Amino acid sequence: MAYSTQLSSVCRRKCFILLIYVIVALIFLSGYVYYTHLSKNYPLNQMQIISPVKGQRNLEVLERNTVKQIIQRVILNVSTSTQTSDPKTYLNINLYEYIINEPDKCKDQNPFLIFLISTIAKEVKQRQVIRNTWANEANGAKDGLTIMHLFMLGFENQADSKLILSESQKYHDIIQKDFKEAYNNLTFKTLMGMEWISTYCPQSKYVMKTDSDMFVNTEYLLEMLQPNLPSKQDFFTGAVAKDPVPHRWKESKWYVPYSVYPESHYPDFCSGTGYLLSGDLAPKILRSSYKIKYLHLEDVYVAICLKKEGIKITDPPTNNLFNVERVPFSPCGYYNLITSHSMPPSLILQYWQNMQEHKGQCSRNGLTF
Ligand SMILES: *[C@@H]1O[C@H](CO)[C@@H](O)[C@H](O)[C@H]1NC(C)=O
Ligand SMILES: *[C@@H]1O[C@H](CO)[C@@H](O)[C@H](O)[C@H]1NC(C)=O
Repeated sequence: MAYSTQLSSVCRRKCFILLIYVIVALIFLSGYVYYTHLSKNYPLNQMQIISPVKGQRNLEVLERNTVKQIIQRVILNVSTSTQTSDPKTYLNINLYEYIINEPDKCKDQNPFLIFLISTIAKEVKQRQVIRNTWANEANGAKDGLTIMHLFMLGFENQADSKLILSESQKYHDIIQKDFKEAYNNLTFKTLMGMEWISTYCPQSKYVMKTDSDMFVNTEYLLEMLQPNLPSKQDFFTGAVAKDPVPHRWKESKWYVPYSVYPESHYPDFCSGTGYLLSGDLAPKILRSSYKIKYLHLEDVYVAICLKKEGIKITDPPTNNLFNVERVPFSPCGYYNLITSHSMPPSLILQYWQNMQEHKGQCSRNGLTF
């Protein structure tokens, strides 16, 4: 009798403790469900700085379903990646819908190199010259290499978007998402490009991100990449800025306050005028962008993403291949460089033609990456 009373009192105590455990577990569980539910919703509702503009949704949006799928996929990932930080400062490029897309451009193709070119709607002439000169697919085809290019745009207004759409229907080389076109939104563009590669062309061997005021010596670039060798991985190069410091004076075009970037130095980065990466890096850059605070300097931002992924920038074999300024023209000088900057379209065309006419007289300096 005494034994069984003892037993039941032990049970009562144990049962009580068990009950406490269950209640505590329930509290944790409901907290967890509530929290994950909240963070799944915030990118659509609460990202204030960089949330999609509602009024633009009535534009013709291609590939709506695919994008929705991507959005859902990525929201899941973002909810786990940004739980510990302030969500307002993160950009999730997948949340912006394509106004113009080229989802099939890469289907059944294995491009060796894709150019991603930042441009704005009014640069019609620039795009035309670029198509006819350095981005021309014939530059690769003569060596049996598939090269492609995509012009990247944000949204300015309906009228411009109509013009862009008709240009796109003619050339099929434009992608546009519904973020606002602005110099300080270049990071949006670059990430759109990285997302496009990751989604529609992950098999691309190399990618070069560059601008509409650039001369690019595609033939030399292809030679330097040695297409006959296995393609590189985790490879990123360009005009490297070493030990770069943020500009802390307000008048600078590249002004960044301490509140946005508190550290004394940026990681080494490659100038956004033209950097080259192996295709495998595009999804890595995209992936780390979900965890890195937005910075409008796209080239610095990409370097921060690379650092997070543990990728080291490769120095080019000499410092005069990728140029952040306009290099004075000579046909053989241009024959042995990869980029030159600050060029109106007329000059791109003139230099390209002149270089082509005289290249028989030039010899290669024979460098490779
Ligand atoms: C989530 O991100 C990881 C890498 O961080 C990736 O491997 C995975 O495929 C992603 N999941 C989805 C559903 O996109
Ligand atoms: C960048 O785009 C976003 C989304 O459209 C917009 O909210 C923001 O104001 C733009 N930034 C600038 C500097 O215009």
